[in-house]
Amino acid sequence: MLKNHIVFDPFSDWRFNFKKASGAYLWTVEGKKLIDFTSGWNVTNLGWNHPEITEAIIKQLEKTTYAPAWTICEIQEEYARALTDSLPPGLTAIERATGGTEANEEALKTARAYTGRNKIISFKDTYHGQSFATIAVGFPEYMESIAPFMEGIIRMEFPTTSGTNLDPETILRNFAITLEKILEKEDVAALITEPRIITGWGSTYTAPEGYLRVVRKLTKKYGTLLILDEVGTGFSRCGKLYGMELENITPDIVTLAKGMSNGAAPIGAMITTEEIAKKTLDKTNPFSTFGWTPVACAAALKTLQIHQRDKVWIKAEKDGEYLINTLKKELGSHPRIREIRGIGMEIGIEFLNEGRTNPDREYARKVVDTAYKKGLHLTLGDGGNIQIMPPLTIEREVLDKGIDILIDSIKHVN
Ligand SMILES: Cc1ncc(COP(=O)(O)O)c(C=O)c1O
Repeated sequence: MLKNHIVFDPFSDWRFNFKKASGAYLWTVEGKKLIDFTSGWNVTNLGWNHPEITEAIIKQLEKTTYAPAWTICEIQEEYARALTDSLPPGLTAIERATGGTEANEEALKTARAYTGRNKIISFKDTYHGQSFATIAVGFPEYMESIAPFMEGIIRMEFPTTSGTNLDPETILRNFAITLEKILEKEDVAALITEPRIITGWGSTYTAPEGYLRVVRKLTKKYGTLLILDEVGTGFSRCGKLYGMELENITPDIVTLAKGMSNGAAPIGAMITTEEIAKKTLDKTNPFSTFGWTPVACAAALKTLQIHQRDKVWIKAEKDGEYLINTLKKELGSHPRIREIRGIGMEIGIEFLNEGRTNPDREYARKVVDTAYKKGLHLTLGDGGNIQIMPPLTIEREVLDKGIDILIDSIKHVN
């Protein structure tokens, strides 16, 4: 039955026949033009098919397409220098990967190898990838039929401000007490988290300001490594080049993928300190046949250069503020909306059922469908949440058109 068909990811409730894309627009095979509010889930942050990145790839194709995994070629070196220069000092040792799952898998291996401990702290309903280890730290209860997963995982509640009457200070204080009780046994290798917002699972739950400083302080105190998964937040999505800059902290390990090459080639990275890398390489044996091909590096280098040249994060912060304020003003009192939340250009609108007791996925899906018919591409997140992640280079006029369609769609669904 599946002969000659791609087995499709079941989490998406609908799909369309994608033909081409440019900037903040997509076209279907049938010729329908859509404004994009997804960036392919935080991938095409600089807009679809960025011409400068395409040009960089073509130039690299004329030189070489592949370098063996046991060599290091010029473009890889150049990109490695640029990438580590863009990060806080100390994060200088890169392990090459093809995407986010692989980078996180390397991070977990490295943390165990460095500390000699095997426990990992993570948060419920987060997404770090599709391998047995990354499912274990994220959402094993949804995948029970393929258990057992990696062992030794302690999964905490993410200290979100959503769905509680507690003030942010109390949320953070309670979280710190619970976290310290676990860490003080000094048997936890690493804590893995996204920086302050859950992008991957699609809930867009945010933690109060100060969250990153708390996890940094406590993990350091008890010899636990802090792994920041910046696969979704990296490359200007949160109004900073990297989410860690929201609170100016430096993790022991950061993982990157998605926006790294703006969708032009598969690439990911695990970046750590020289000390950690030196003590673990012979134990973790990182090896990725297709990690950091010269073509992917050319795309990633150009992507990073554009982010830095245009300071894309500044526009992302401003547009994010504009977007969230407009939505709150127009929809704040909507009877089906529980919350509009986000950081930078990573924004969620969560819908509830009529009695306002439960998330209403069906309602959210109807909004996505209605918007699609009106020319706006949206994606569902977790539960009743719609995740809004426009390309960060979107022109204000196009952003406004998209916002109008979104508001109109929400007002017309019942
Ligand atoms: C936060 C986060 N981490 C990791 C991953 C996994 O990345 P990949 O799909 O490149 O393996 C994702 C993918 O959605 C993600 O959102």
